[in-house]
Amino acid sequence: MKRVLGVCYYPEHWEEDRWAIDAAQMVEAGLKWVRIGEFAWSRLEPGPGDLHLDWLARAIDVLGEAGLQVIIGTPTATPPRWMLNKHPDMLAVEAEGNARGFGSRRHYCFSHEGYKNECRRITEILAQRFGKNPHVKAWQTDNEYGCHETTVSYSAAATRAFQDWCAQTYQSMDALNRAWGNIFWSMEYDSFDQIALPNLTVTEPNPAHVLAFRRFSSNQVVRFNRVQANILRQHTNAPLIHNYMGRVTDFDHYAVGADLDIASWDSYPIGFLSDRLEATEDHKARYLRQGDPDMQAFHHDLYRAVGKGRWWVMEQQPGPVNWAPYNPAPLPGMARLWAWEAFAHGAEAVLYFRWRQAPFAQEQMHAGLLRPDAKPTPALAEACQVASELAEWPEVGTANSRAALIFDYASCWAWEAQPQGADFDMFRLAFETYRAARKLGLSLDIVAPDTDLSGYDMVLAPGLLETPQTLENFAGTALIGPRTGSKTTDLSIPLPMGPNIKGLDCTVARVESLPPSARIELENGGAFLHWFEELDGNAETTLTTKSGAAAMMRADKLHYMAGWPDAETYVDILEMITKKAEIETTRLPDGLRRRDTDTHRFWFNYAPDPITFENRTIQPADIKIEKL
Ligand code: GAL
Repeated sequence: MKRVLGVCYYPEHWEEDRWAIDAAQMVEAGLKWVRIGEFAWSRLEPGPGDLHLDWLARAIDVLGEAGLQVIIGTPTATPPRWMLNKHPDMLAVEAEGNARGFGSRRHYCFSHEGYKNECRRITEILAQRFGKNPHVKAWQTDNEYGCHETTVSYSAAATRAFQDWCAQTYQSMDALNRAWGNIFWSMEYDSFDQIALPNLTVTEPNPAHVLAFRRFSSNQVVRFNRVQANILRQHTNAPLIHNYMGRVTDFDHYAVGADLDIASWDSYPIGFLSDRLEATEDHKARYLRQGDPDMQAFHHDLYRAVGKGRWWVMEQQPGPVNWAPYNPAPLPGMARLWAWEAFAHGAEAVLYFRWRQAPFAQEQMHAGLLRPDAKPTPALAEACQVASELAEWPEVGTANSRAALIFDYASCWAWEAQPQGADFDMFRLAFETYRAARKLGLSLDIVAPDTDLSGYDMVLAPGLLETPQTLENFAGTALIGPRTGSKTTDLSIPLPMGPNIKGLDCTVARVESLPPSARIELENGGAFLHWFEELDGNAETTLTTKSGAAAMMRADKLHYMAGWPDAETYVDILEMITKKAEIETTRLPDGLRRRDTDTHRFWFNYAPDPITFENRTIQPADIKIEKL
């Protein structure tokens, strides 16, 4: 597989006589892919049925004839203003009951059938016209499902669709009332059409109701995407892709990915560090211009799973963005490092966002590879460098990891519905697990709970709503918990109580959640934060708290962990477990990360200073590639 670069381009933002100049410059820079069209609905169809596709055809010709492969994005994330005259009730509705306004993007409700038909129509029109176009080599559906908190909508359309979903899922009122425990507080319903959405209740709604609504909302995204995928398949053999976002967990990405050929995601390392990561001020200062050393890798590995092995970075930050609270510029070299890191994790392509900074509208402060005046930014030279390095690069696959982290979206929704402690967040727990493994130099796979685990020597399963059945006959070493297997599918306490792991006599008798200042000290040093569980049972206690309570229990290779370790403790615990699994680890210096392909070992220096480790020195924002 030849790994390549590309860029996102908006021909509709520039004069037509500029297109050929831009295309030639992209080719000269060594870029191979160009993504276009995903927000252009108002120019493709300025009024209902008034189609203007010729400009897009000309843009595709110009780009294609210059030697670029084109990805068309369906424009459904930006329904134009006239759409609202046709479908005034198509807007997504917030939990407080307000409709989201027109004037940015993603304002539609996934449940609105009228809007879904409009999407079907425009996708069909584009697919018919361009499906066989020789320059169009891939399609993107919509843009960043769920971004800007748009998965969940409390509209009338969502209410009706949720009632249908409940009827199909539970079949009878009695089954639903029992599954949700509606006898509590006399919440029983007589018919499905009485079921409202779980917002605007006096005190908290029933968490089972919330989780059911979240499952439904996720499924609406899957169904919305499937409409476009099915149409595109009728007209093209090119791969279908969606560009997911970072730390968006509101819908089941594995389920959306099942209908597509390639997963991609939009990587904004510096924006994410400042805007969606729990970290100390020191950490944020240290990585200010590089981004967090694990955030990109986590998503690379996650989306490799979502794409069933095939994945891209569809948008790569090239310079300061506009949308985080603060938007520093990357260290020189980072636009290169980020791209190489993606390739080391198996990306087929990395596209920078965007070609040229727009001097107007919301993202006028967002850097591109070119400045607003079309002069190059520093990222263009770095992209050129990566492109020429890639040209020399042998065709390699990602190495098979020996260890996997199970990540599940339903668990994210469950703990949002019922956090129990204000800072219990599923993504955070999974991410801190991943980070601890990376500090030990481990390459992890991230997998869905139904993934066959037989190829792995070690599996990490923190925070899963239900204990995955795949763990039942797992012969390797497993680190399970905290909180794993503590609930049923409908978010009630299972009887017998969790985690219900065959062969491990250990029950969680009681849990407590802890404010940020509280620590449960462990006997040999280290501590648990946020969460602690009292364990019952005859399994062997392998770690205790200072006050003598069991902190970990095990039977053979199955280990259960009763709390959420702090960063150093997590590394210690994982080191102990990996030793048992006979997996080699190395404690890496702060900011240094590594990743193996089949044939090469990559080193990435995320730190702001040079790092010397095992006889190699790596400059900040630099990489080292060694043959294995
Ligand atoms: C992404 C989005 C792009 C652009 C970019 C800015 O989330 O897909 O359209 O808005 O962010 O960083």
